[in-house]
Amino acid sequence: MEFQELIRWRRSIRGFSAAPVEPWKLQKILEAVNEAPSAGNCQAYEVFVVRRPEDRAALVAAAHDQDFMKVSPVVLVFCTHPGLSEVRYGERGARLYALQDATIACTYAMLAIVDLGLATVWVGAFEDEEVWKAIGSPEGLHPVAMLPVGYAAMEPRPKSRRELSGLVHEL
Ligand SMILES: Cc1cc2nc3c(=O)[nH]c(=O)nc-3n(C[C@H](O)[C@H](O)[C@H](O)COP(=O)(O)O)c2cc1C
Repeated sequence: MEFQELIRWRRSIRGFSAAPVEPWKLQKILEAVNEAPSAGNCQAYEVFVVRRPEDRAALVAAAHDQDFMKVSPVVLVFCTHPGLSEVRYGERGARLYALQDATIACTYAMLAIVDLGLATVWVGAFEDEEVWKAIGSPEGLHPVAMLPVGYAAMEPRPKSRRELSGLVHEL
């Protein structure tokens, strides 16, 4: 899809069919993630691909019963890996750059998902500790965002945005 069209077309989707995600599409999404910029190219994040129904159910429970993640066949969990940035940038790397690295990577995934004809919604409302346990309690990692991935089974809500003139400040 042409880029400008893609960013206008993208909407959060919270209803999925159970149709599987083709492995080649998942591969393309993960390759897009790996193209994302990161501070000092440290790539201070990790991505977990969650497919097992029982694991997705644990994520749903951790995310205050956002149960569309039970239906989408795949959920991607993005974690910061602060240690990878801290070695180069100290406290700023651990606190800020790792978070930026992980969320830019998540954004790349989101756009790739839509470009491939799939659907997603950024999920940020969850209990960190519970998501961390659901992905196997990986030491030194902190979950910051999740993306259910699947085929849309609903129409998106209409888009509403602030006026550009209200959020852009020219100096
Ligand atoms: C940081 C962040 C956290 C979000 N968390 C959730 C969430 O937990 N559940 C949900 O349904 N949508 C969540 N969203 C999606 C937003 O509600 C959505 O992007 C916003 O309403 C704009 O709609 P659009 O994505 O269709 O343009 C989140 C989005 C962002 C960027």
